Amino acid sequence: MKVAIIGSTGQLGSDILEVFGEEAIPLSHDEIEVKDINSCRRVLKDVDTVINCAAYINVDQSEDHPDEAFMVNAIGARNVALICNARKMKYAHISTDFVFDGNVSSLRGSSQFNRKKKSYHEDDEPNPINTYGLSKYAGEIFIRNYCTEFYIIRSASLYGKKGARRKGGNFVEWMIEKSNNNEIIKVVDDVIMSPTYTKDAAEMIKDIIETKLPYGIYHVANRGYSSWFEFAKEIFKILEINAKLFPIKLSELNRKARRPKFSALESKKLNKFGLKMRRWEDALKDYLNG
Ligand SMILES: NC(=O)c1ccc[n+]([C@@H]2O[C@H](COP(=O)([O-])OP(=O)(O)OC[C@H]3O[C@@H](n4cnc5c(N)ncnc54)[C@H](OP(=O)(O)O)[C@@H]3O)[C@@H](O)[C@H]2O)c1
Repeated sequence: MKVAIIGSTGQLGSDILEVFGEEAIPLSHDEIEVKDINSCRRVLKDVDTVINCAAYINVDQSEDHPDEAFMVNAIGARNVALICNARKMKYAHISTDFVFDGNVSSLRGSSQFNRKKKSYHEDDEPNPINTYGLSKYAGEIFIRNYCTEFYIIRSASLYGKKGARRKGGNFVEWMIEKSNNNEIIKVVDDVIMSPTYTKDAAEMIKDIIETKLPYGIYHVANRGYSSWFEFAKEIFKILEINAKLFPIKLSELNRKARRPKFSALESKKLNKFGLKMRRWEDALKDYLNG
């Protein structure tokens, strides 16, 4: 099997590259521009599967640059879908927990705006509340309608050895760096998500493709959930660091983009096929001790 990996230099892409080993064909941004269908047409060929990790991932900057976010996350996904469909290649596309709004109102028939308390399954209805989430959701819709053999793989709050390319590191490393600098560390305790180790996500993505699971949407995140504050607390607990860590509220950060207050993911479908992600605490321990 030959697998082309778009965004292979990124945080998730580099781990996917590693798990596929010799089957992988890495495609850096220098080699392919997903915004340009001619570039996709030129590069995407002679493989069984294309995995697209390319994205405009900066959530706040997406509010100021919606055209760029949509070009990469929606039109880019459409371009890859069109080429995959025409050339009979399977398409595995990476999406996000930010397609959800975190409110009960996202569930059919409810008009309430209470915070959601149960993890999102694949059949919950997206309702993005920021430009990044909307551009990623538009990408999903293009894929569903422009190609038949696809996996849309939603992941969440990623951290990995490589660190997100455009974010300059990852949350775990920022926490460690701040404590090393003896800084007072303030982290939000009212945003709940599923912290996910890219190595685990990469291995599960390979399993989904290799075991030929039915096409469609899959949630791939470490099991369980935490607030960002609880996540930071666990990092320091594992490392036995006595950090100056304090909880704050999201509203205190004055972020440009709104964020879902709850976006934990759970997979009904993986369980059905006997696949399971490990809990986020175990994955974090592995990352920190690895
Ligand atoms: N990071 C998270 O917490 C998170 C959470 C949920 C879902 N996701 C999703 O997971 C996927 C991977 O995210 P990541 O954290 O690994 O991001 P990342 O580290 O920023 O990697 C993105 C990769 O895509 C490349 N790329 C960007 N724009 C491109 C374009 N127009 N054409 C071709 N390549 C392009 C980047 O190359 P350059 O840097 O050289 O441009 C980089 O190699 C994305 O789909 C993202 O939406 C991420």
